[in-house]
Amino acid sequence: MAEILAIYPGSFDPITNGHLDLIERGSRLFDRLVVAVLTNLEKDPVFTVAERVEMLQETTRAVPNVTVDTFHGLLVDYARQRGAQAILRGIRAFTDYEYELQMALMNRKLAPELETVFLTPALAYTYVSSRLVREVFQHGGSVSGLVPPLVEERLKQKLNPKS
Ligand code: PNS
Repeated sequence: MAEILAIYPGSFDPITNGHLDLIERGSRLFDRLVVAVLTNLEKDPVFTVAERVEMLQETTRAVPNVTVDTFHGLLVDYARQRGAQAILRGIRAFTDYEYELQMALMNRKLAPELETVFLTPALAYTYVSSRLVREVFQHGGSVSGLVPPLVEERLKQKLNPKS
């Protein structure tokens, strides 16, 4: 049977333990998994794309069939260019579903041959999002246990560059 390559796209600003959990699950399901960071201009990201890629590479180093890449423009164009068969997305709670369903159906309209596969992260991470991690951290709260230690370290450096 042909190898199944899946793309796990996102902003990953920053990668959380929920993302990492999903990457590990995806890596067991697919032959190859490409974690793809969107490079379209966003306003005020905490980490540059290069920083996000580096943190993703470091934190997924132990997972052999996972690679990290960047993309811009339409996800389906990138997926086709990579020869992927599937798009991996995480659904944490009911509230994610509407947005994810819309994206999956739009992507299917654009590229009917690509399947979107939804996985759920471990229960412990169902409330964790990059946006909340950024917000909690920017206001001095602890994000310990919610992001990999490397990310926690890099967040501290962002707030306190000389530390
Ligand atoms: O982690 P995020 O920010 O929820 O990821 C969203 C992402 C990157 C998957 C989505 O915005 C995306 O695919 N953007 C690329 C542009 C595109 O293809 N848009 C149409 C999707 S229906």
